[in-house]
Parts: sequence; structure tokens; C-alpha cells
Amino acid sequence: MTEAWVTLATNDDYARGALVLAHSLRRVNTTRKLHVMITNQVSVRLRQELEAVFDAVSVVDVMDSNDPENLALISRPDLGCTFTKLNCWRLTQYTKCVFLDADTLVVQNADELFDRPDFSAAADIGWPDTFNSGVFVYAPSLETYHRLVEFAVEHGSFDGGDQGLLNEFYPDWRDLPSAHRLPFIYNMTAGAFYTYPAAYKRYGKDTKIVHFIGAQKPWHGSSAVHQVPLS
Ligand code: UDP
Ligand code: GLC
Ligand code: MN
Repeated sequence: MTEAWVTLATNDDYARGALVLAHSLRRVNTTRKLHVMITNQVSVRLRQELEAVFDAVSVVDVMDSNDPENLALISRPDLGCTFTKLNCWRLTQYTKCVFLDADTLVVQNADELFDRPDFSAAADIGWPDTFNSGVFVYAPSLETYHRLVEFAVEHGSFDGGDQGLLNEFYPDWRDLPSAHRLPFIYNMTAGAFYTYPAAYKRYGKDTKIVHFIGAQKPWHGSSAVHQVPLS
């Protein structure tokens, strides 16, 4: 029984995020494997750096929604290629996985996530009846993979990315038993700091996984604004 953290980097920019993510997982002494999916757009140099810290690096083909209209609704024309995430269901060498976006950072050990059932995720702060697809627990399965690809071809995605697709694929997520709904501390989207600073002051120390959503990522330098609120 092998379990793994899985992430995705289709290019060098996100590979930098993936590197930091892997180091953060090592720092909290996870007992699970670390797997990164890359495409052939990742340079040899970054690939070698990834190989040094991940247990496994696999090369996947880019899958793109080719859906600029819906991507415009989330102002992220760059996210069509997040359909590439679907490849994570093909990693059947693992019995259970936790997918983490490359823009997440694990700040405390969160290995207990592997006790969660397939499929588990945390609410999206923009529409909490849906889940955010930056962190999810799942069981790799070729059958599920093929069903997802078929579903994508037939229905597309309401946001042009994987999140719109996965929410339509698991439409009853909100009503599943509570074990399927991850607490916010496992996918603390940084923007949420601003909307409820008092809650951050009260619960922020419990945070285990931070998710830096938005086009500006922390590795882009000082222009990337992801700050904790001043108390
Ligand atoms: N991603 C990628 N290449 C891209 C865009 C996205 O590899 O060009 C992957 C990466 O793992 C990233 C995830 O897809 O973390 C989702 O994109 P992002 O985190 O930027 O979306 P957000 O969380 O900001 O909505
Ligand atoms: C979201 C998620 C991200 C996903 C994107 C596109 O905001 O954070 O993981 O790739 O939407 O669907
Ligand atoms: Mn993200």
C-alpha cells in the first residue's frame, strides 16, 4: 500500500512552486511519497531539481480545455492546461493520493489527510457549495480517469479549468458525509485572510496547507501580494 502527494507543473514557472512545495512536505516529515507530473515544456535544469527532491517525476501530455470563453469568467486565460491534472488518476502505482496545486505550501504535517475517503476536498471561498480543486484526496483509477476524460469531452467545464469540470463530475460533493469535506485549514486560500481577519486571528495558527490562488504567485516577487492581516 503506497500513498503519495501528487502535484503538477507544466512549465518552469510552476516547477518552482512545486519545488518549494516538496521542500515544505519534507520539512514537516511526511511519511508519504512525493510525486510530480511534468510536461516536456519543463527544462532539463528544473527537471533535475525536481528529481532531487521528489520520489518520482513522470512526464504527461498537456491536456487543454481550449475554452477561452469560460476561462474569461475567472480572468485566467492561462488555466486551460489545468485539464492536465486529470492525469493524476492514472497513477495507479499508489492506492491513495492527495493532489496539491503547485502553489500550495504545507506548513504543518497533514498526513492524516490520507485517512479521508475518495473523493474529499475543501469548500471554495468564492462559492462554498463547490469545492476548490487545489487540494483533494482521491484514489487513482484508470476507470475514473477514462470517465473523467469522456465527461470533459461531453460537458466541458463551467470555468474552463479542472475545478469547473471536477465539480460537475462530483456534483453531490456538498451533500456527501462530512468526512468528504475537508476543513479549511487544509486549503487555506490566502485571499480569505482579507475577508475575515478576526477568524484568521482566532484560527490561523491551525493552518496546515496554504494555497496562494490567483495569477500572481509568491515566487513572482514582491508584486505578489499574499500577506497576513495586520492585527
Ligand atoms: N498549472 C500548471 N501550469 C500552468 C497553469 C497551472 O502546471 O500553466 C498547474 C499548477 O499545479 C497549478 C494548478 O495547475 O498550481 C492550478 O493553477 P493555479 O494554481 O495557478 O490556479 P489558482 O489556484 O490560482 O486558481
Ligand atoms: C481554481 C483552483 C485551481 C484550478 C482553477 C481552474 O481556482 O484553485 O486549482 O486549477 O480553479 O479550474
Ligand atoms: Mn492553485
